[in-house]
Amino acid sequence: MVDYFNSRILLQPNEVPKEWINILPDLPSPMTPLINPMDGKPAPPEMACAIFPKECVLQEVSQEPTIPIPNELREIFARTYRPSPLHRALGLEKDLGLEGDDIQIYYKNESYSPTGSHKPNTAITQAYYAKKEGLEGLVTETGAGQWGSGLSYGCSLFGLKCMVYMVRASFDQKPGRKILMRSYDGEVHASPSKLTESGRAFYEKDPEHPGSLGIAISEALEHSMRSDKYRYALGSVVNFVLLHQTIIGQEAKIQMEKVGVKPDIIIGGMGGGSNFAGLMLPFVRDKLDGKLPDLEIIGVEPRACPSVCKGQYRWDFGDTSMKGPIVKMYTLGHTFIPSPIHAGGLRYHGMAPIVSILYHNKIINAVMHYQNEVIESGLKFAKSEGILPAPETAHAVKEAVDQALKAKENHEKKVILFNFSGHGYFDLLAYKEFMTGELKDFDLPSQEIEKALASPEMPIIDESRF
Ligand SMILES: Cc1ncc(COP(=O)(O)O)c(C=O)c1O
Repeated sequence: MVDYFNSRILLQPNEVPKEWINILPDLPSPMTPLINPMDGKPAPPEMACAIFPKECVLQEVSQEPTIPIPNELREIFARTYRPSPLHRALGLEKDLGLEGDDIQIYYKNESYSPTGSHKPNTAITQAYYAKKEGLEGLVTETGAGQWGSGLSYGCSLFGLKCMVYMVRASFDQKPGRKILMRSYDGEVHASPSKLTESGRAFYEKDPEHPGSLGIAISEALEHSMRSDKYRYALGSVVNFVLLHQTIIGQEAKIQMEKVGVKPDIIIGGMGGGSNFAGLMLPFVRDKLDGKLPDLEIIGVEPRACPSVCKGQYRWDFGDTSMKGPIVKMYTLGHTFIPSPIHAGGLRYHGMAPIVSILYHNKIINAVMHYQNEVIESGLKFAKSEGILPAPETAHAVKEAVDQALKAKENHEKKVILFNFSGHGYFDLLAYKEFMTGELKDFDLPSQEIEKALASPEMPIIDESRF
């Protein structure tokens, strides 16, 4: 019997988790270091501290299984938006013709945050540490604008300045996001811009260049290094960001326990990997410990930018202008400029090293979908559950729908949990183009990947030196 009165599972503000889950000590192969591009050796902590807030650098390499969340931060989460709700998607289940409890779909609603996505979980945290260190501001890049909004909000909570380089394709498609960032006093520039050496190289060749996350990262890094009172803030990929996001999975676990279910399948859209990791990592620990041996974990990528599904696991620059550290990850090559799909937050050439290690060791799986089928699933979700998903989030919706229909066809019992990473109310152009038949699908040709990965700019790192 479906229990409607327990289908929106809420926790109290005092149930905000007390610690983050650090997966580094559990990984099946050791975490690879960040490499200094100047000498090809592991970057010393002083170098990383010149880029990121110091506390984040310590968290990046910590081997402690858990890291306490400062009480001041828990208080902010409690009074603003955490714990976020977990919903059983009864409307979607009905729409898919699922009856009873054999196939259950749950989603963790991170769109509930003030800026509409999971990004404030780490944005507020990084701003908190920057303030404690006595810094004046943070500089960053943003793809879809969700991260830039999150960081502008986080900085405004602590009276810090926030500078945002926004990928031009999104800057043009999403004027609403710019206004939201500016509402929190964030300063927003289209990237590539004329303001940095890294941006000018692209801007001067083509002032309409659509940009990429890789270029915007180079611009933000370069800008942050101009003053020792500023640091660079990153919204995905690195270990400490994934760590801050584990608040999502811990809450989801308690919420599912409250209604007496365990997930068989966990799903998340993957850009740099942070929302997916935030949901799955607390469960990965249980899978590795043998408590959830059959748990299937699936990351979803766009076919236009399939870093894991079609990339290679190798050393590469995190940014296009080769200014930042080199990391070992699944990558399409840092010179690769993805097509301007609407899921701007998924247009990144690489993948978080933690997610890459888990995929390489076959602990998690990855799939890819076309933009049209993704947006169509987003509309299905809006009609059945009421919230219009961000295009990034709609990738997870599409896979959850596919998995539910597969289970139905095979007469299997499945509990599916996916991360609803954000709403799409600033992404309406994607939906408009779908409705008018203008939305294009992009499939990344193998020759383009081969070309980017064969570039002489790809770094060669001798691992025997460390
Ligand atoms: C709503 C939403 N979901 C997902 C992503 C992808 O990023 P990540 O893989 O770090 O979660 C983004 C990135 O901007 C986003 O805005």
